[in-house]
Amino acid sequence: MALIAPSLLSANFLNLQQDCNMLNESQADWFHLDVMDGRFVPNISFGPMLVSFFRKATTKYCDVHLMIEEPERFADAFKDAGADSLTVHLEACRHLHRNIQQIKSLDMHCGVAINPHTPVESLTDILGDIDLVCMMSVNPGFGGQSFIPHTIHKIKHLRKLIDEAGLNVKIEVDGGVTLQNAGEIIAAGADVLVAGNTVFKSNDPSATIASLKKI
Ligand code: DX5
Ligand code: ZN
Repeated sequence: MALIAPSLLSANFLNLQQDCNMLNESQADWFHLDVMDGRFVPNISFGPMLVSFFRKATTKYCDVHLMIEEPERFADAFKDAGADSLTVHLEACRHLHRNIQQIKSLDMHCGVAINPHTPVESLTDILGDIDLVCMMSVNPGFGGQSFIPHTIHKIKHLRKLIDEAGLNVKIEVDGGVTLQNAGEIIAAGADVLVAGNTVFKSNDPSATIASLKKI
């Protein structure tokens, strides 16, 4: 059974309390919080201040996805905001190993995200140092995009690498996850499904989370 991590990027920002309450009462496992800087990705979302409000609104695990350049400048701020994990982009880190050490030294779980064009092999030498790989199945920056089918091959490949090395690294799939493709994504080896539009644009978000959870 996969963990379900609704992305608050698709929530109603004029009534976040209501969406947080819905998630708290639902079978959602994690809050997925998408931070964008307008540099690494062509969009701006929110920063540590809003993460600290989400922290107060839930006891669920806060999974913070940093789509920002130089994430080392903000690791402390997100720790203070109450993040349980920080995921940085391999493409945004000049010294990725140093970023990973920094996040671990702050006692948070550490994830590394890879864009659709980044080969799974580029993770080989840091897989043993991290808790999660966030496999982008769309180009990062926006909710509501279509799943890139080639991602299925990348998930299978990464699953093989993790299992052969006997590691305990979760595979999170982020972007374009729907009730229709979730089965294939889980079968390929995903542990965590991020879902923004599929959850928040549905008629009954809580029931949609329950349906994702059943797959
Ligand atoms: C995209 C973000 C995703 C996004 C997913 O850059 O990282 O987390 O919110 O949204 P959906 O599920 O709508 O593709
Ligand atoms: Zn994300």
